[in-house]
Amino acid sequence: MTYRGPYKVRVEEKDRPRIEHPNDAIVRVTLAAICGSDLHLYHGLMPDTRIGHTFGHEFIGVVDEVGSSVEGLEVGDRVMVPFNIYCGSCWFCARGLYSNCHNVNPNATAIGGIYGYSHSTGGYDGGQAEYVRVPFADVGPMVIPEWLADEDALMLTDAFSTGYFGAQLGDIVEGDTVVVLGAGPVGLAAARSAWLMGAGRVIAIDQLDYRLEKAASFAFAETRNYTHYDDIVVEMKKTTGGLGADVVIDAVGAEADGNLVQHVTSAKLKLQGGSPVALNWAIDGVRKGGTVSVMGAYGPLFSAVKFGDAMNKGLTLRMNQAPVKRQWPRLLEHIEAGYLKPSEMITHRIPLEHIAEGYHLFSSKLDGCIKTVVVPGS
Ligand SMILES: NC(=O)c1ccc[n+]([C@@H]2O[C@H](COP(=O)([O-])OP(=O)(O)OC[C@H]3O[C@@H](n4cnc5c(N)ncnc54)[C@H](O)[C@@H]3O)[C@@H](O)[C@H]2O)c1
Ligand SMILES: [Zn+2]
Ligand SMILES: [Zn+2]
Repeated sequence: MTYRGPYKVRVEEKDRPRIEHPNDAIVRVTLAAICGSDLHLYHGLMPDTRIGHTFGHEFIGVVDEVGSSVEGLEVGDRVMVPFNIYCGSCWFCARGLYSNCHNVNPNATAIGGIYGYSHSTGGYDGGQAEYVRVPFADVGPMVIPEWLADEDALMLTDAFSTGYFGAQLGDIVEGDTVVVLGAGPVGLAAARSAWLMGAGRVIAIDQLDYRLEKAASFAFAETRNYTHYDDIVVEMKKTTGGLGADVVIDAVGAEADGNLVQHVTSAKLKLQGGSPVALNWAIDGVRKGGTVSVMGAYGPLFSAVKFGDAMNKGLTLRMNQAPVKRQWPRLLEHIEAGYLKPSEMITHRIPLEHIAEGYHLFSSKLDGCIKTVVVPGS
């Protein structure tokens, strides 16, 4: 898959990636997925997205080649690869901040490395491809346990782990009311995970009824379609006895709908690093002293966030790109015990050759699309 400019991607023949460092591995991709984050790239909103870049930060595969210093992987191993590229030994990695690794991204200091996510995150080609170079092969990837199905492993490389992390950052305590804004894969996973952390009530908010239906069936959430309300914040207050939710999770990010001025000043005029509609609803709809967890991605420019209200309400704001591998031990337990089946979020499976159609479908939210899996060589 290669990027050809906003709303244009196509399949091209590229050189097979090579081992460039002794701790690299080359992975033959067996499954990849398209993420909501890829849409920010696809829409041309992520700075320094270069023509010819290959996207894809959710993938699993089989190890095809290893560098001379790789100890933990062997050719033939079935591996899941977290979307973060990280060294495992810098100040930040040592503290579990894998998404903030200091050694992998020469182009920015805020964010570490991400596969296939523009040169702003290091310029590494991603996994919507037949082969991908995996740096620090002893650090990120994990051999997939035999009992774990491919598609469940794939959902752990980003979407489900990120939703789980979003719920973790909510600091949910028993009985809390948790509102999740956005019922895409990340929001669905956050809503489902909130129960695992003791939530007493989970409410999913989106504008797409088919996604809200999934939030009810997959995440057991109450649902609200915000387009049915004059002011969704008033509804958030009404349904929580006037106080507001204990925790609100933003699983929407920079391309939020629901406010024309915010949309025009961000996506069209690029005066903001993203439209903070959902984030502002979170700040308004959470109770005083509550927690807002931000999983939705925003660009490096400032955004018109209601910071004064957050300050005056005494909110705790928590956020990051998910340090994916930290979530795996617990999620693997839940899946093995039968509590979770992340692959239930998948709605579409397409051959790599048809990836342009896959992006269009997901971007325009057509055909009931929630999560698309891309299959190379099919
Ligand atoms: N922090 C991380 O590590 C991380 C990882 C993966 C994805 N993300 C980000 O999470 C966000 C969601 O990803 P996804 O794959 O679920 O994307 P998605 O595009 O499938 O889902 C976004 C959903 O938000 C809904 N929405 C739009 N405006 C809204 C509003 N104002 N209020 C409520 N809902 C609204 C859309 O209808 C859509 O269903 C994206 O911004 C993505 O970049 C972050
Ligand atoms: Zn992602
Ligand atoms: Zn590091």
